[in-house]
Amino acid sequence: MEMNIEKLDEIIDGWKCDKAAILPILQDVQRELNYLPRQAMNHIADRLGVNLGHVSSIATFFSSFSLVPRGKHIVTVCMGTACHVRGAPRVLEEFERSLKIKDGENTPDMQFSIETVNCVGACALGPLVIIDGNYHGNITTSEVADLVANYREK
Ligand code: FES
Repeated sequence: MEMNIEKLDEIIDGWKCDKAAILPILQDVQRELNYLPRQAMNHIADRLGVNLGHVSSIATFFSSFSLVPRGKHIVTVCMGTACHVRGAPRVLEEFERSLKIKDGENTPDMQFSIETVNCVGACALGPLVIIDGNYHGNITTSEVADLVANYREK
């Protein structure tokens, strides 16, 4: 686990070790690590006095949580219909080429992950790419390399 126990305890104590705060505790951990390590969920369950299954069921219910390691920067390419017809497959290919990974993979240095999503309700911006929560609309393949370089520096 990349998060030390002290940091994890700090988050849990920040929520007063309250059983009702499992969701925000998990959100805080994911914000730090971009995913929820098994050991962190174990520790949260121990500290809050709930069983691991309860913590896991919350973590798996919400699609915003990831149970596998992800890169520092998450590149999410919308593959919904509107974005698809406006060129999303070519944009995705260009990200895959630029980062030398496929959809669902992390770069070996854990700087980037590529994910796809089906429509986030901003179809007028298609093709749409969301990087670390920032929306980049009407993306063309020629903009991909600059986007990657900008985020790599952050
Ligand atoms: S299809 Fe991409 S935002 Fe709707």
